[in-house]
Amino acid sequence: MVDQSNTLVKRMFKVLKTEGIKGFSRRIEGRLRSKWSRHYFFVFSQEFASVSDALEFPAQLDPAIVRMFERCQRVLSSVTFKQVKESDGGEIDELVAIDPWKLSKKGIIEKLQEGWCCYVAEFGSRIVAFEWTKAGPEFYEPFFRRSFTLAADEVYDWRTFCVPDWRSRGVVPILIKWIVNHQALTEGVKKRTGWVRIDNVGQIHNLEQMGYSAVGRLGFIEIFGVRLLCYIRGQRAFSATKKRFSIKC
Ligand SMILES: CC(C)(COP(=O)(O)OP(=O)(O)OC[C@H]1O[C@@H](n2cnc3c(N)ncnc32)[C@H](O)[C@@H]1OP(=O)(O)O)[C@@H](O)C(=O)NCCC(=O)NCCS
Repeated sequence: MVDQSNTLVKRMFKVLKTEGIKGFSRRIEGRLRSKWSRHYFFVFSQEFASVSDALEFPAQLDPAIVRMFERCQRVLSSVTFKQVKESDGGEIDELVAIDPWKLSKKGIIEKLQEGWCCYVAEFGSRIVAFEWTKAGPEFYEPFFRRSFTLAADEVYDWRTFCVPDWRSRGVVPILIKWIVNHQALTEGVKKRTGWVRIDNVGQIHNLEQMGYSAVGRLGFIEIFGVRLLCYIRGQRAFSATKKRFSIKC
């Protein structure tokens, strides 16, 4: 330890002597820059004026979207949708096998017990796409290491996935449509909020196509691997969540 400090001090003197104070501070700045990082994600949301609008979705949308659904419907007429329950052992095993986030069987069952909902699109007995949702009033998001509050008629959209050989066939938009209609009918949901990585072009395209819009950002800053500041930007992004900033999250 003492040896290491001596070497560091010697090195600092050498840099100061050869590169001067300017070179020395440039090096310090460079070192620190590589040790801090900023991460942010788009928050996407869609809100219907009433539950009946959510039930009729996408009737109010652009005719191009309706045409897109008609095109998808021809390909996807054999796809069925369902909500996974704890008793659906077969579906849970299949979710474990395809989940890119590696949620275990125990993890899935815990989520279902905590009130998270998992919806799947199936072709025959094979799951081709899934999405999770959570209603409020509160939920914990492990990725952001914090809790969020939702309005009474709002749900959180989480982890949409489509198996690779079924991508670009419109199964995700049609699964979202089914969930929007189902949750409007059964829970009176008319507002949906989620986040997406800024480079996830396919999912951003899907969300925009499905009437969602970018309403803000979720982000955090890390220094030396320690997460120092987490923030929510945009009034319409998680608007029921009072805590917009947190230090050391
Ligand atoms: C994100 C995901 C669900 C999308 O699946 P998908 O909708 O079947 O397939 P694609 O991404 O191929 O296509 C979605 C749309 O984006 C378009 N798109 C995809 N990549 C694009 C690009 N680079 N530039 C422009 N458009 C693009 C497609 O053309 C398609 O549009 P269309 O329906 O009008 O033809 C799927 O890629 C997936 O499971 N990814 C891994 C998990 C993930 O990232 N989930 C999102 C977490 S929020």
